[in-house]
Amino acid sequence: MIDVVGIGEGGEAELSPRSRALVMGARTLLGGRRHLKLVPAAPGQTRRPWPSPLREGLGPLLAELDAASSPAGEVVALASGDPLLSGIGTTLIEVLGADAVRIHPVVSSETLARARMGWSAEQATVVTLVGRSPDGVRRHLASGARLVVLCSDGSTPAVLARLLTEQGWGASRMTAWWHLDGPAEGSLTASAAHWSVERTADLVLVCVQVSGTPATPAAIGPAPGRPESSFDHDGQISKRDVRASALAQLRPTPGGHLWDLGAGSGAVGIEWALAAPGASVSAVEHNVARAERIRSNARQFGVAAEVTVVESASLDALAGLPDPDAVFVGGGLTPALIDAVRSRLRPGGRLVAHAVTLSTEALLVGAHERFGGELTRISVEHATSLGAHLSWTPARAVVQWSSTKGMP
Ligand SMILES: C[S@@+](CC[C@H](N)C(=O)[O-])C[C@H]1O[C@@H](n2cnc3c(N)ncnc32)[C@H](O)[C@@H]1O
Repeated sequence: MIDVVGIGEGGEAELSPRSRALVMGARTLLGGRRHLKLVPAAPGQTRRPWPSPLREGLGPLLAELDAASSPAGEVVALASGDPLLSGIGTTLIEVLGADAVRIHPVVSSETLARARMGWSAEQATVVTLVGRSPDGVRRHLASGARLVVLCSDGSTPAVLARLLTEQGWGASRMTAWWHLDGPAEGSLTASAAHWSVERTADLVLVCVQVSGTPATPAAIGPAPGRPESSFDHDGQISKRDVRASALAQLRPTPGGHLWDLGAGSGAVGIEWALAAPGASVSAVEHNVARAERIRSNARQFGVAAEVTVVESASLDALAGLPDPDAVFVGGGLTPALIDAVRSRLRPGGRLVAHAVTLSTEALLVGAHERFGGELTRISVEHATSLGAHLSWTPARAVVQWSSTKGMP
């Protein structure tokens, strides 16, 4: 059992009596160097700062301390605010399991910032850029959004201001708050376009009231079916109406994992990742240039961490992928691939495949006979100029087979 005690900028003086007893009575006290300095020395107590790099060193350190099976109160860790907000509490639970970790939160920096801004919890979205690319903020940019952005260090506010301005959100009002609720608390407010401070204190977050004229208005917001022009592609991309239909059938869920097989530009997988929190993708593409394009599209949409690109032929890649909740096959369908995918799909998982050629269409008709589901032919026509007039121009019809495993 390990106890994780939240501590604020006020330090030990502001701990609850129960948390203080835990911290001062621990045999071993773990924490960041900053946190360990916030509490006075306790006789006979060993203090261990987190290893660096954390992930690699944490397992061995916890094993050495026998943290999982030591009695409650022996091993205690300090963390700032709410240890489960972009914090060490989450990592410890991942490593040791929830039953071996007890969390004792105090008010988080996000709550303090909202209190200063007068923003309710329901109105605001927390975005963490701690140890992550600033691109992670892009998916949340929409007029009217209120973001509380946790920063890696004091350089993040200026990086964020530049990113917002480049994307057409320069009118957004940013307030950086540092050392909230401590003697060194301070703040700075300016529009993103007029942000002039290159570096603030390192313990900082930024509240952003998003507004402006975005560079790609049609790509904003959570709905799938973004225009092709918002992705870099070489023509190998599902068109927006057909893609929106595929996403509706795939039904992205929080934490769900998609295999996007024959991913092309990555548009289907990227829209899956954007549609639900924690949703992730294995995008399989054998063409090297296209694989690189998927990576760059994922970066542009701020989901590089959620989209793993696998450079391989689809069938060869499957053994190395985590089990999927849904599978999209945009190209390269074969009978062997259908069987392999179905054997890995969990019951209730969705499989959606598209065909534009007669031979692939025949495969889908056969799959429909064997496994049921829905066959749909999607024909889209756009009005285009014909001399001085408008006329309908049909796009190539797409046959879509959609099925749910274990359900006729
Ligand atoms: C790893 S996260 C931990 C957040 C923490 N668990 C919490 O509840 O506030 C660290 C980041 O939180 C933000 N942060 C934590 N304490 C803060 C404070 N007192 N004032 C401003 N930002 C703070 C900063 O963005 C910092 O880089």
